[in-house]
Amino acid sequence: MTKGHTQTNQPVSVIGLGAMGSGIASTFLDAGCQVSVWNRSRKKIDALASLGAHACDSPTNAIQASPHIVVCLTGYAAWENVIQDHRLQNHLEDKFIIQLTGGTIDEVQTHASLIEENRGRIADGALMCFPRQLGTEDASLLMAGKAEVLEECDGLLRLLDPNWTNLGDDLTKPSILSRSLTAGIVTSLIGLLNGMAICRAGGIPLELFMQHMEKAESIVPAEKRRLIEAVREGRTEETQASIKTWTGAHETIHSVAEQLGTNLVLQDSIKFVLQEGQRLGLGEHDLSAIIDVFISKKA
Ligand SMILES: NC(=O)c1ccc[n+]([C@@H]2O[C@H](COP(=O)([O-])OP(=O)(O)OC[C@H]3O[C@@H](n4cnc5c(N)ncnc54)[C@H](OP(=O)(O)O)[C@@H]3O)[C@@H](O)[C@H]2O)c1
Repeated sequence: MTKGHTQTNQPVSVIGLGAMGSGIASTFLDAGCQVSVWNRSRKKIDALASLGAHACDSPTNAIQASPHIVVCLTGYAAWENVIQDHRLQNHLEDKFIIQLTGGTIDEVQTHASLIEENRGRIADGALMCFPRQLGTEDASLLMAGKAEVLEECDGLLRLLDPNWTNLGDDLTKPSILSRSLTAGIVTSLIGLLNGMAICRAGGIPLELFMQHMEKAESIVPAEKRRLIEAVREGRTEETQASIKTWTGAHETIHSVAEQLGTNLVLQDSIKFVLQEGQRLGLGEHDLSAIIDVFISKKA
């Protein structure tokens, strides 16, 4: 096989057949790979076997079946249990472990040491998409690892995301980038739910909220880009709407939410962040200057 290219019938194993692991295995099957699968509960193995995968009775069999092994479990603790229960460390030599389980910085580092101490090769990654998007232009796979390891895995990675992102050899980078992106997404979605609660408490139908939400949020992508550029270029002082202005606007949001009797846990947090910005002397600066509130004093 040419390095970095997949061929029909390329063997690959997938350990963990949850929503994402099953999506990964079926994407490889669709591409003509020879896929071996293992999962803790048997039903999911059988579902993949009915699509043409080779069913493994143990994770040890799955590791032995292919040079490349994709791992996708709930978390690293689950993977550690699997390793310990089946003494997998004895079967890692010369294996390429493509770790796509989401983990913390410590977990990624500890895991990488374990694989390398046992003469395995490690590539660590994070998927920023739904299983249904795998293999399409909408997939998003962030990867890190030694150049030669990523090159060796490239063909398989391209089956999952034709334009996968190489973040270099620091294995913790996919975890850090995916968590920082998710921080923005989860905060925005929770904000939406808070807005819905305020709307409902005020007797406005959610249908009307939805109609106007799309229009109101149409400015958000461009505003997010503007904030990133302002921080990147050090232009957080120039503004058309200062932190002081935003604080005033937020006071009315807080007051409406309070008057309608909704839980203020989110609005109190936002109020605190804006107050911190003012306390740091950033009241006349652009909203982008709020980054200073979040930057660790240790940095
Ligand atoms: N689903 C998504 O849309 C999505 C998107 C991006 C990233 N991800 C990431 O992909 C990873 C997997 O997510 P998922 O959605 O596939 O999760 P999931 O559907 O909940 O599947 C979890 C998998 O972990 C296995 N597992 C859990 N505890 C275990 C243990 N102690 N020992 C052995 N196996 C264990 C489960 O086995 P059983 O079947 O036996 O329970 C199952 O195969 C996560 O890190 C997640 O953050 C998921």
